[in-house]
Amino acid sequence: MGLKSMKILAFNGSPRRGGNTDLLLAALVRGAEAAGAEVRRYDLYQMDFQGCIECGSCDRTGECVLEDDLAPLYSEFLGARVIVLASPIFFYNLTSRTQALIERSQALWIRKYVLKNLPGGRRYGLFLSLGATKGKKLFEGVQRVVRYFFDALGAEYQGGLFYRGVEGRGAIRKHPSALSEAEALGRALAEGKPPESWPVVRSSAP
Ligand SMILES: Cc1cc2nc3c(=O)[nH]c(=O)nc-3n(C[C@H](O)[C@H](O)[C@H](O)COP(=O)(O)O)c2cc1C
Repeated sequence: MGLKSMKILAFNGSPRRGGNTDLLLAALVRGAEAAGAEVRRYDLYQMDFQGCIECGSCDRTGECVLEDDLAPLYSEFLGARVIVLASPIFFYNLTSRTQALIERSQALWIRKYVLKNLPGGRRYGLFLSLGATKGKKLFEGVQRVVRYFFDALGAEYQGGLFYRGVEGRGAIRKHPSALSEAEALGRALAEGKPPESWPVVRSSAP
């Protein structure tokens, strides 16, 4: 894949500005942009949208009726090569805005599995996450959700980066390798290397 075709969508699902997810995602974006990728970053807590209202319209049309800040995202999802979702762990879960974004992918799920008209093309999904505790299964449940989300978008989940023991605002700066790992991942994406060579953790219980 050439540099020009490398479009990356990046979602920050943390409410905390200058927080750990914010910094981690910024490092990935910095690496990707420095290596020539086109990155669009969306900060979910700065956007106006809601979760799925289960109106059933997309069952027939494959389109979401809600005209909010997520409306332009459906075509963006389909045009992106890589979709990066980033969320801290809140109560062993994704944040509520991240979950709301995921619910809204229902229209694409319908296109893929019911209407069977989801455009093809290889897309890849990555997940960045972190939490304060050291729980062995800290990222297990959320990865199940994230895998399902990417599947609805027609994107192949490739794993991501996961950090435990990160709590205060900006504490990730003190982590010995997190920010440089995220930057290196961004570079690898932009350079168009095959996904198997991306510097990510693939285990479902990292
Ligand atoms: C409402 C809330 C719930 C949280 N729940 C968990 C949790 O279940 N497990 C955990 O390890 N950390 C938990 N945390 C800690 C955050 O994951 C941690 O502080 C993280 O660094 C926040 O990332 P941010 O700066 O990107 O928002 C919680 C924090 C908040 C505010």
